[in-house]
Amino acid sequence: MQIRDAVPEDAVALWQAELETVAVPGRLVSAPSELDLASFRTKIQAAVGRGSYVVAEVDGLVCGHAYLELMPLAAVRHVCRLTIVVHPGHTGTGIGTALIAHLQEWARRQPEIRKIELLVRASNVGAMRLYARMGFVEEGRLRERVRLDAETFVDDIAMGWFPRAHVERR
Ligand SMILES: CC(C)(COP(=O)(O)OP(=O)(O)OC[C@H]1O[C@@H](n2cnc3c(N)ncnc32)[C@H](O)[C@@H]1OP(=O)(O)O)[C@@H](O)C(=O)NCCC(=O)NCCS
Repeated sequence: MQIRDAVPEDAVALWQAELETVAVPGRLVSAPSELDLASFRTKIQAAVGRGSYVVAEVDGLVCGHAYLELMPLAAVRHVCRLTIVVHPGHTGTGIGTALIAHLQEWARRQPEIRKIELLVRASNVGAMRLYARMGFVEEGRLRERVRLDAETFVDDIAMGWFPRAHVERR
């Protein structure tokens, strides 16, 4: 497996993988109609200098992507928000672990980054197990934050990880 920076040419593969992933309720927040190819390209281009957008490749095929996005406002610019999607058919093979480990190493090398945060649906137990294994701790529960259908809601769990805490422990 190889992890490299995403390039605009990856946009189609990432867009298609997210379209397939959102078909399963309770994983990603976006609705299919809210995922458009152009915004994938824009986000990859905008990531330069504003975080790290990476893809995982196995035998030349893009099998997962992850984005650490720096918050834009000065007071929270030490915080990155993590988004990760391992592409359908490739989950449970270590790609998510490798993507997060890669981004954690990247974050440790950026002195200005003091925190990585994420939101995960409370029903996404596999994802929460992965984050906990990688050192993320639960910071709060946002009740009924995500609507699954007209009358069904799911809580979001806020989790955080601190690169400097890791350095100080070593
Ligand atoms: C949640 C997600 C990111 C996890 O990534 P992943 O690549 O499936 O995770 P990994 O394979 O690294 O680890 C998952 C499990 O597989 C196991 N595993 C890792 N490598 C393995 C291998 N080679 N063979 C078998 N199992 C393996 C891990 O030990 C882990 O076990 P656990 O279930 O006890 O935690 C991924 O499933 C995903 O993108 N899902 C859809 C979108 C989503 O939910 N995104 C998160 C939104 S917050």
